[in-house]
Amino acid sequence: MNDPSLILMVGDLTYANQYLTTGGKGASFMEPLTSRIPMMVIEGNHEIEPQVAGITFKSYLTRFAVPSEESGSNSNFYYSFEAGGIHFIMLGAYVDYNSTGAQYTWLQRDLNQVNRSNTPWLVAAWHPPWYNSYNSHYQEFECMRQEMEALLYQYGVDIVFNGHVHAYERINRVYNYTLDSCGPVYITVGDGGNSLAKGKFCWDSQPEWSAFRESSFGHGILEVVNSTYALWKWHRNQDNYKDDKLGDRIYIVRQPELCTNSSTSKGNDATGKGSSIANGAPALLAKWKWFISLPFILTTVM
Ligand SMILES: [Fe+2]
Repeated sequence: MNDPSLILMVGDLTYANQYLTTGGKGASFMEPLTSRIPMMVIEGNHEIEPQVAGITFKSYLTRFAVPSEESGSNSNFYYSFEAGGIHFIMLGAYVDYNSTGAQYTWLQRDLNQVNRSNTPWLVAAWHPPWYNSYNSHYQEFECMRQEMEALLYQYGVDIVFNGHVHAYERINRVYNYTLDSCGPVYITVGDGGNSLAKGKFCWDSQPEWSAFRESSFGHGILEVVNSTYALWKWHRNQDNYKDDKLGDRIYIVRQPELCTNSSTSKGNDATGKGSSIANGAPALLAKWKWFISLPFILTTVM
């Protein structure tokens, strides 16, 4: 299992804080991994790095190549790619996300072109979570959710990955803060490093849309089994891959035939929507394995 095909890093690549050499140290630290495994990135708030003359995102734009042009985007801040039966949508939370803007227009076009026969799984990722029951960063990007959530729901996004909050949380399928079996599973894996959220939640009791939350250092692995099943595992780092020490494990199940209110996309699996979460284990025929983590974080929280 510790042999991923791809690393997905969902923002705050380093805490360089305008010192680009610090970002270089972070890259060197990761080199044993990134020299042999592709890593796809998206910008976080620590990539803004405001500098003189209004320059921002200098390190992100200079150091990382992303397939924006190949995916029809005119910006490295949002793009898409496909790998192992998944169409990945990487969204920018720190650029214009309004429904009248260029990113939204690109997103509409990209979603409409997804062929769910080729890539049955539709996974979206951006840095700050929309659904988060921690005190830290609670509803910080509510405006982005209000602008974009309906579009992702319409096209049947299966899973959303976020970071930003220094903790782990898995959200039940939800749409507009209401449990909905046709909504995405949201997973926050902001527990890659730095100081953890101190276990303070917005509510003493867990809201119904929050399925699992724990403030421990960790990382997750998504293993796509086939067009129906994907196995998600979240590990505490200190548990060191001991199978009996899993922090969270769940099968995410696609059942597009159960949802009829979505847009038609190409392919015989027209909607892509409708899925459930199962604890039962189907026959496991691992085809693709993905490693999803937050970056190594070098200095203190901003
Ligand atoms: Fe962040």
